[in-house]
Amino acid sequence: MRFTSAAIFSGLLTVVSAHFQLQYPAPRGPFVEPNEINFCDGYANAVSNRTEFPISGGFFSLNSEHPQWTLGVIVSTVQDPDNFANFTDSNGNEQTAVPFFQTSGEGAFCAPINLSDLTSVSLKAGMNVTLQWIFDGGDGELFQCADLTLADIPAPTNVSCSNATNAAVTPLTSAPAFTSSAASPSNTSNGAPSTAVLSLSGVLGAMAAVMALL
Ligand SMILES: *[C@@H]1O[C@H](CO)[C@@H](O)[C@H](O)[C@H]1NC(C)=O
Ligand SMILES: *[C@@H]1O[C@H](CO)[C@@H](O)[C@H](O)[C@H]1NC(C)=O
Ligand SMILES: *[C@@H]1O[C@H](CO)[C@@H](O)[C@H](O)[C@H]1NC(C)=O
Ligand SMILES: *[C@@H]1O[C@H](CO)[C@@H](O)[C@H](O)[C@H]1NC(C)=O
Ligand SMILES: *[C@@H]1O[C@H](CO)[C@@H](O)[C@H](O)[C@H]1NC(C)=O
Ligand SMILES: *[C@@H]1O[C@H](CO)[C@@H](O)[C@H](O)[C@H]1NC(C)=O
Ligand SMILES: *[C@@H]1O[C@H](CO)[C@@H](O)[C@H](O)[C@H]1NC(C)=O
Repeated sequence: MRFTSAAIFSGLLTVVSAHFQLQYPAPRGPFVEPNEINFCDGYANAVSNRTEFPISGGFFSLNSEHPQWTLGVIVSTVQDPDNFANFTDSNGNEQTAVPFFQTSGEGAFCAPINLSDLTSVSLKAGMNVTLQWIFDGGDGELFQCADLTLADIPAPTNVSCSNATNAAVTPLTSAPAFTSSAASPSNTSNGAPSTAVLSLSGVLGAMAAVMALL
């Protein structure tokens, strides 16, 4: 019994602490796990060391710590987007860079992203844009951002781009609502965790559920 509950707890902790990490293009700052439930992983402001990113034929890569997940990417043309509304057009519609889809598999995931080809917004070389990845592994939405300057350059050849699995990708019929469920930008002037309230209550709630079972 003792062994069983220990096993359940370790499995539980693995699940509730699972996240994703954007690998390329580089995120706004170092990954801060408890902040990933917030806008741009808690980084409220654009960085000045932007990645020069291909306007056509680019790709992105990330590491998934979840076996089943959904992902979408939205784009802002605001110089310093600090809220979800900055990722919408003048009619309030999300500016989609990669439509939401569902897939499976833990580990590396790398997919093409052609920013010259979007219908939601017209992008050109020379523009500064911010991409925001919205990932949901089944226990809530997680966010990471990358600040870019678009350029007529080829995709990098020195960045790893591979898929850990060859799982099928299924488009979602409608984009999930995320603006209301996500916290507003947290204050992380030094990258320190700030509003980890949701994650903590999630852990406690899950633990309480397991305790009730034992
Ligand atoms: C910008 O600088 C920050 C802080 O040094 C770093 O974490 C981030 O990876 C850099 N971004 C790029 C695109 O180089
Ligand atoms: C893009 O951002 C950089 C650094 O944040 C800034 O120096 C530059 O003026 C911006 N370019 C445009 C076209 O706004
Ligand atoms: C990206 O989209 C543009 C515009 O539709 C197209 O001309 C170009 O071939 C695409 N590039 C890739 C690599 O798919
Ligand atoms: C970005 O969002 C802020 C806060 O909602 C708003 O004041 C600002 O006008 C937005 N910027 C643009 C360029 O839409
Ligand atoms: C890849 O090459 C670019 C351009 O030479 C360089 O700026 C970047 O640091 C390199 N990235 C890695 C991961 O080596
Ligand atoms: C990884 O899988 C996605 C979705 O099927 C696909 O678009 C992408 O091309 C794959 N990446 C590589 C490097 O094969
Ligand atoms: C963020 O926190 C720092 C340090 O506690 C404080 O000086 C700053 O005013 C805060 N900024 C915002 C926007 O709340």
